[in-house]
Amino acid sequence: MANRVAIELRDDVYRRPLVTATERLGVSSGWKCVDVGAGGGDVSVALGKIVGPSGRVFAVDIDPGRRDQVAEIAARETQVIALTQPAEEMVLPEKVDLAFCRFLLLQVIEPGLVIERMASVVKDGGWIVIQEAVTSAGRIGDSPISTLSGTMKHPDIGIMVPGIVKQLGLEITDCWAEAPVGLGDTPESRYLEAMTGILVTDEPVMLPPIVTTIARVSH
Ligand SMILES: C[S@@+](CC[C@H](N)C(=O)[O-])C[C@H]1O[C@@H](n2cnc3c(N)ncnc32)[C@H](O)[C@@H]1O
Repeated sequence: MANRVAIELRDDVYRRPLVTATERLGVSSGWKCVDVGAGGGDVSVALGKIVGPSGRVFAVDIDPGRRDQVAEIAARETQVIALTQPAEEMVLPEKVDLAFCRFLLLQVIEPGLVIERMASVVKDGGWIVIQEAVTSAGRIGDSPISTLSGTMKHPDIGIMVPGIVKQLGLEITDCWAEAPVGLGDTPESRYLEAMTGILVTDEPVMLPPIVTTIARVSH
């Protein structure tokens, strides 16, 4: 991710899919959750607000620097607990109702291993929510945005996730894609500018769609 401005803009433009997912799943007060590859904690905080003081959110990230960022948030959202761990070896103090990841699997070597680990920390009958992008499907007008994929290991992992989840024997209960689109001086055009240096205001910008996959875990 390019810089702080880009991260904040990205959080803005991709917050709607996050709301769609939590509402469709019915995340509510008292749920215990883990946000895997939590980064700056945007998803952790959103979940923390929903689950309230009786719930709990573990924010797991491999980068200890991220822990400090989330720890700052945790001081305000007391139910968010930051842990430094690789997702592939994640161990939590208790089982959770929901394991969530967003924009993580595009960075890891073996996405299937991470999904399997996520399932292992979820209670029987609990949920996994995965939100990952299809980077090559972003558009400026009708042309692909070819500069976005950068050094990602799996730039189009979003469309691969349902197959991986099914192969792991998990039951997919919901799956859909959402893409932020704007025309003019919009958060979408400003995010694209922050990521690529290209400002486009005279054509529609469709940022990479994010595919949400929801699966139920039964052990
Ligand atoms: C693109 S950021 C996404 C952050 C956050 N999920 C969001 O949507 O705002 C990816 C994050 O995953 C973390 N990460 C990468 N590989 C990881 C791994 N194997 N285990 C845990 N975290 C990892 C990175 O340190 C980074 O904070």
